[in-house]
Order: sequence, then structure tokens, then C-alpha cells
Amino acid sequence: AQQKATVAIHPAEGKQVINKEIYGQFAEHLGTCIYGGLWVGEDSPIPNVKGYRTDVFEALKKLKVPVLRWPGGCFADEYHWMDGIGPREKRPKMVNNNWGGTVEDNSFGTHEFLNLCEMLGCEPYISGNVGSGTVEELAKWVEYMTSEQGSPMAKLRKENGREKPWKVKYLGVGNESWGCGGNMLPEYYADLYRRYQTYCRNYDGNQLFKIASGASDYDYRWTEVLMQKAGNLMNGLSLHYYTVPGWTGSKGSATKFTTEDYYWTMGKCREIEDVVKRHIAIMDKYDPEKRVGLMVDEWGTWWDEEPGTIPGHLYQQNTLRDAFVASLTLDIFHKYTDRIKMTNIAQVANVLQAMILTKDDKMVLTPTYHVFEMYNVHQDATYLPLDLQCERKIVRDDRIVPLVSATASRDKAGVIHISLSNIDLEESQDITLTLDDVKAKSVTGRILTADRIDDYNSFDNPDVVTPKTFTGAKITKNGLQINLPAKSIVVLEVK
Ligand code: AHR
Repeated sequence: AQQKATVAIHPAEGKQVINKEIYGQFAEHLGTCIYGGLWVGEDSPIPNVKGYRTDVFEALKKLKVPVLRWPGGCFADEYHWMDGIGPREKRPKMVNNNWGGTVEDNSFGTHEFLNLCEMLGCEPYISGNVGSGTVEELAKWVEYMTSEQGSPMAKLRKENGREKPWKVKYLGVGNESWGCGGNMLPEYYADLYRRYQTYCRNYDGNQLFKIASGASDYDYRWTEVLMQKAGNLMNGLSLHYYTVPGWTGSKGSATKFTTEDYYWTMGKCREIEDVVKRHIAIMDKYDPEKRVGLMVDEWGTWWDEEPGTIPGHLYQQNTLRDAFVASLTLDIFHKYTDRIKMTNIAQVANVLQAMILTKDDKMVLTPTYHVFEMYNVHQDATYLPLDLQCERKIVRDDRIVPLVSATASRDKAGVIHISLSNIDLEESQDITLTLDDVKAKSVTGRILTADRIDDYNSFDNPDVVTPKTFTGAKITKNGLQINLPAKSIVVLEVK
């Protein structure tokens, strides 16, 4: 069976640029995200470049990661950066209290992180400790990373082998300060934010973009208080939104779920649009010029940990269902790119909705990775507004879910990219797509789909869900006619 949908793209109305930082990643000292995922050390038998896993590094290069957030998450508010510099064998150990009580040996620290960002060609996003750290500690970290010469911290950095400062733009002043970052009330945190950020200086031409710790999900009061009391002192305010069935009890399996669970997930994921709209409306009240960015610096699916893995390490598999959460959410972020300046999916490797899973010397790319790779054509391209009409479905919790999602952009070379997701498990979509005055001369595409919605890539079968060539789009007088198969994600290139 087939359904009908229409997509009307308006290329002449394109104004906003899709901030490439919307495609940001997040790496926390949690489970095997850093150790085993990104970093194995120079002496490891696992092939590596200066201690970074070669396979993971190359996969991330291909992804065009624009920005990487580190060291947390909750870990950030217990992290003392001075423990992670100097000779590795002398670095003190600590207990990672948030994440399974694992012993952290601090062998991956500031140098290891900032050098990785340089090698990947991405912006670092440092998440500073406000919950258990001092103003002095954070101020000195900024000085250590970014001051050129003469300062005590620049001297220390040079003694540790790095002559020139790094370029560090994004600085988070605390993380989830309403929870693991100190259990604060918004009024108290607003004052702390004002104080801590005062001493985070711009050294030697480095310009910080200061991000206040923001709300979770539906906590609109947090955004209100922060904007009112400290909006003038911040460049960005964060927001966390997870596609999670609930915070108590089971969150459900990543790989074993019913059709009803699947459609519920689509509804919950799409609800982020209402949530960002409400936070944006509050920000608009205090900042109508849209100077302050909304930074959705944690998002993605959160399922039960895979059976047999270490509790607290948040290791989960990733199916075609997760790929839809990625494509639908990115489609939404594109729409609000005038306010959303950055987002960071949680997390880059081996944690939550990961791009990459590793086990010893093996690596797999998840369906979510493939969405990010297929979608990276939208980075820094001009967002093209569109009207979409399609069937809808009412899912558990009374959410109404459109079965098709779409986004379009035009890149600097004038090429139009259109992404389409058909979340219907059974039926394909016959899509009539118009492009106003633009006449398509050629169309090519790639498709991500699988036999089953719960298919995933494993270490034994790493290519179950991978992009293939798509030939279901034909040029018509007014645009394109597309046959979008059930449960598929397509990215088209129109010239
Ligand atoms: O991403 C995992 C955790 O989720 C982060 O550490 C925390 O900020 C959030 O609660």
C-alpha cells in the first residue's frame, strides 16, 4: 500500500544558515566513551595515532564533526582539570562517582582533548566545573588553555609541552546545575553564573562564547530566571532533552520493542519541537534580537543498558529506530537555526545514542552515525522553508505524529539537498515535491533503511543498516516525484 504526501520547498525564501554546530558531538568521561572509545594510549596494541584509535578517528573525520563537548555531563562538575595535566604516570586518580564508581586515571586530560580537536578540525566545547570547583580553578583553566605568554598558567602549559595556546571558543559554566551539577535553584545558579563567568577572561585575541547551564525538558521557569537575571552576560543558554520513556524504572530495551513503543518514541522525539519553541518564546521576550543562542547540548535516546554491561556505563545498542530519532530531531533543529546555535547529541562513542560502538579492537558505525554522515551536507547551508502535508498518526500519550518529516537546504555551490524520513513501518509514500521556480536538472540520492525497524549493526554484522544508492526520485515539470519506501531515510542531491 502507498500513501500520498506533498512537500513544497521555497528556495527563494531561504535566509538563515544552518549553524554547522547543530551537528555537534559530546564526549564524557563515562563508561568507555573516552577510554576504549576515543583513546587507547600510544602503547596500545589497538592501532592508534598518538593514542587516539585510528578507526574511530577516521570515522569522525568523515562525519565532519564541527564541535566536541567535554569532559561532561555530570562528570564535569566533579572534574579538577589540574589532575589531568603533566606526566601521565604522576596524575592522581579519582572515582567517577556519577558513572559506576569507575576509577579514572586522568590519562586523558586537557592536552589530549584539545589536541584531538585540532586533529579533527573541530571547535572544542569545554564544560567547566561550577558544582564542586572554585572560581579560581575555572579562571585558571581558561588561562592555561588560551593565554599566549607571560601568565603563570601559560608557563605551566609550556612546561607540559605545549608552546602555543589552543583556540577555545565555547565554555560551559556548569552542567545541569539544577541536578548533578549542584542541585541549585535557578536564582542561586544565576548569581553563580554571573560570578564565575566574570573571571573567565578573553586572553590574547581568544574570544570566549559563554554558555550558561540551562533547563531540562519542560522546566521553563529555569530559562525564565536565567534570561531575566543573567541573559545579558551570556552568549548561550543550554537545554537538555532526551527521548526517554521516564527517569524511574525501566527505560525499555534498545533493541526489543513493540510497534507501539516505536511510534511512541517517534512522538516523544518530535515533542522536542514544542519544547524548544516554548524555551525560545521565553528567550525572545528578554532577547528579541536573538543574540543569545539556545544550545541543546544534550539530546538523543536513552534506553536500558545492554544486559551484561557495567551498570552506570550507559552502553546501549542503536537500531533504525534511533536513526529516525536523529533525522527527525535534526529536521526540527534546522527550522529554528536562527536561535539554535549548537546541539550535541549524547554521546560520540559507546554511551547512549552513540555514533560509534567499540569492543577491544573492533568498531561499528551505528545507524545514527549514518544519519549524521548523510546529513552533513546541510552544515552551514542555507535553510529552505517548506510546507509539508502528509498522513498523521495518534500514538500513545495522545501525541499526533506526522508520518513524513522533511528538511531542505542550499549549499554554497548552489546544490539543493533534501532529506526525507518516512516513519511508517508498513507503507511507502508517494511524494509530490515542488521547488517553485527552481528547475531540477539532475537528482541523485542515498537511502538508509533495513528489513526490520529493530535491525542494528553488531561487531559480527556491521553492515546491516548502511546507506545505499537511492533511485526512487524522478524529475517532473515542477520538481520531483519520489517513492519513499516504508521506514526509510533518504537524502537527495538536486542540481
Ligand atoms: O549524557 C549522560 C548524562 O545525562 C550527562 O552526564 C548529564 O548531563 C545528563 O543527565
